[in-house]
Amino acid sequence: MAAATKLLIFTAALLMSAGYATSAKSCPNCGNSTVPYPLSTGPTCGDQLYKIRCDAGSLKLDTLNNTYAITSITPSIQRFVIRPANFLPNVCITADIVYQGVQLNSSLPFNITSSNTILYLNCSNELLQSPLNCSSTSLCHEYVNNSGAVASCEAAPLCCTFKAGGSSTSYMIRVRQSGCRAYTSFVNLDPSLPVNRWPEPGLEIQWVLPREPLCGSQADCDDGRNSTCRPDPAGGGVRRCFCNSPLAWDAVVGLCVEDCQSADGCGGKTDRTGLIAGLTSGLGATLFVASISILLYRRHRRIKEALERLAKEREDILNANAGGRAAKLFTGKDIKKATQDFSRDRLLGAGGYGEVYKGILRDGTDVAVKCAKLGNTKGTDQVLNEVRILCQVNHRSLVRLLGCCVELEQPILVYEYIANGTLLEHLQGLKPGGRGLFTWSHRLRIAHDAAEGLAYLHSSAVPPIYHRDVKSSNILLDEKLNARVSDFGLSRLAHTDLSHISTCAQGTLGYLDPEYYRNYQLTDKSDVYSFGVVLLELLTSQKAIDFNREADDVNLAVYMQRMVQEERIMDAVDPMLKEGASTLEMETMKALGFLALGCLEERRQNRPSMKEVTEEIEYIMNIAKAKDVQN
Ligand SMILES: *[C@@H]1O[C@H](CO)[C@@H](O)[C@H](O)[C@H]1NC(C)=O
Ligand SMILES: *[C@@H]1O[C@H](CO)[C@@H](O)[C@H](O)[C@H]1NC(C)=O
Ligand SMILES: *[C@@H]1O[C@H](CO)[C@@H](O)[C@H](O)[C@H]1NC(C)=O
Ligand SMILES: *[C@@H]1O[C@H](CO)[C@@H](O)[C@H](O)[C@H]1NC(C)=O
Ligand SMILES: *[C@@H]1O[C@H](CO)[C@@H](O)[C@H](O)[C@H]1NC(C)=O
Ligand SMILES: *[C@@H]1O[C@H](CO)[C@@H](O)[C@H](O)[C@H]1NC(C)=O
Ligand SMILES: *[C@@H]1O[C@H](CO)[C@@H](O)[C@H](O)[C@H]1NC(C)=O
Ligand SMILES: *[C@@H]1O[C@H](CO)[C@@H](O)[C@H](O)[C@H]1NC(C)=O
Repeated sequence: MAAATKLLIFTAALLMSAGYATSAKSCPNCGNSTVPYPLSTGPTCGDQLYKIRCDAGSLKLDTLNNTYAITSITPSIQRFVIRPANFLPNVCITADIVYQGVQLNSSLPFNITSSNTILYLNCSNELLQSPLNCSSTSLCHEYVNNSGAVASCEAAPLCCTFKAGGSSTSYMIRVRQSGCRAYTSFVNLDPSLPVNRWPEPGLEIQWVLPREPLCGSQADCDDGRNSTCRPDPAGGGVRRCFCNSPLAWDAVVGLCVEDCQSADGCGGKTDRTGLIAGLTSGLGATLFVASISILLYRRHRRIKEALERLAKEREDILNANAGGRAAKLFTGKDIKKATQDFSRDRLLGAGGYGEVYKGILRDGTDVAVKCAKLGNTKGTDQVLNEVRILCQVNHRSLVRLLGCCVELEQPILVYEYIANGTLLEHLQGLKPGGRGLFTWSHRLRIAHDAAEGLAYLHSSAVPPIYHRDVKSSNILLDEKLNARVSDFGLSRLAHTDLSHISTCAQGTLGYLDPEYYRNYQLTDKSDVYSFGVVLLELLTSQKAIDFNREADDVNLAVYMQRMVQEERIMDAVDPMLKEGASTLEMETMKALGFLALGCLEERRQNRPSMKEVTEEIEYIMNIAKAKDVQN
């Protein structure tokens, strides 16, 4: 899968250490602009996969069918900005409509970043059904009403706004007769600014960090001392200049540099991270100033470059912090101290993404520290995604991100510490005394809190967020059994995705919306489906998937649907709950069961929204409470 490979390359490169070097293969300047490696304006420089064009002193990007001017390049984060197409005279249509807007070749290592706010103008009515924000208060209306730049669009009633970078918008911003006929884009737009202070329109594009250069023979590989022309073990029948040990490929500068990569990570130790931490604290700086050894000098440069790159990453993370809640940046030293250098006794859990440790900050705050597994690209990606998502939300039923650390070899997130384990652990009696605490009213409250958190994501977060991996092991409980939804690694902002097809499976078996298999789309109603399964777990204390049940009943949702058809819903309820329960309480259990089945409706449009689910649980709680009062 091309995307996966790209990601792999990207992440592998990210984890690789930076080095010092002077660039030898970069292309010459184009007019006033430098052309950083790997961008290539000619056959003898840069990396040929990264072709751009130098046209009479200005840089251009050729898309599938069209050409756009490159207005700026930021090599440290592998991004450049192109100027969107002009509007045709006197109509609200962009000149590139004949090419269906910006269409990148998805086989090339360029994609459209999520820093772009796209305004779609002169849209057809069908767009009203899209997940884009086409309301009369949306940013595009504000722009049309106040910019004067697109006066022709005032007469076009429908326009919509979205953030790019979703799976369907990473290679195109599509305009066409049957959709929207014009677009413009702004990079890192602060929507709170008045329109006259918005930046110039621009569309930001990112490039994937490059692999080692291709070669035909050894003569193509620098002076022959630093690299050797060998067949690429990753396949493709090509040969590349692989760095000779102990040198290693530095994708940013595009050279072989001294390898300072090591098996560091959570639990590991290297002098590099130590040095970085030292440098940050100022202590290391003194050390380096004092040093005259060339080795140390080189190392210093290397660390400096690493720091610069990390600073950029940090900037990105802080830019993502749009919800107004400050995510703190922790140093590697902070994190190591808090977790006693990732001591095994502090390990709270491990999953596909990596590991979670308990930590104690210097001010005594208990925290949970999650780090992506070293070399696990999916994990790294999920952790970075989680930062983006969590920086935008704040609700008492959602786990809180306190900050992150990008200083060690893999991204690390720091959350408030939730003391009492997961809902799954409690339901399965894995927590000492766990299930004993679980009265019916506790369970209802947990259901309500979690539902409220999800409803907030769907209807109060802007843009809406779909969690995409709702399950009982992602619901944390604190000492007072307040529920908090966690693990936003798979979640997505509700993007444009008109033509969204995501082919790699998401979510967890037993919780996954069956409609997903039909159209490969996950929506807010997919979260509703998964939450329905959680409700059934709360009601029955059974696992979502349990191979100890009869073959037909392995899946809890299917099992419960059968029980309801046979009018035996109460037979499936956790016996511990039924013990001593009043008739009225039994009724509320049944009611929750039916609500759960409503969430599991095959057709999405028949499922309630998360907000309706929350209200329904509230209603059930009130009935249950009324009973308490009677007693
Ligand atoms: C190059 O720089 C000169 C002088 O700084 C400026 O006048 C000119 O517009 C620049 N050209 C481009 C293509 O940016
Ligand atoms: C919007 O697009 C339609 C279809 O291309 C075009 O006929 C119309 O003139 C456009 N509206 C405005 C206000 O320019
Ligand atoms: C883009 O160009 C290709 C040929 O290079 C052509 O087949 C295709 O129809 C063009 N697409 C558009 C939208 O113009
Ligand atoms: C897209 O890029 C690949 C790789 O360079 C190339 O082989 C292919 O022809 C390009 N596709 C189009 C439609 O230009
Ligand atoms: C659309 O955007 C406006 C302005 O940013 C916001 O107030 C509104 O809630 C958004 N609507 C939806 C449905 O997201
Ligand atoms: C833009 O102007 C239209 C018509 O004057 C008005 O209905 C709409 O509310 C305005 N929208 C914004 C965001 O200012
Ligand atoms: C775009 O490319 C970057 C850098 O390789 C990558 O991290 C990101 O996941 C890509 N985005 C999409 C939507 O493919
Ligand atoms: C080879 O590597 C050494 C050490 O990193 C460096 O000084 C030298 O410039 C490199 N030579 C080439 C041609 O890249």
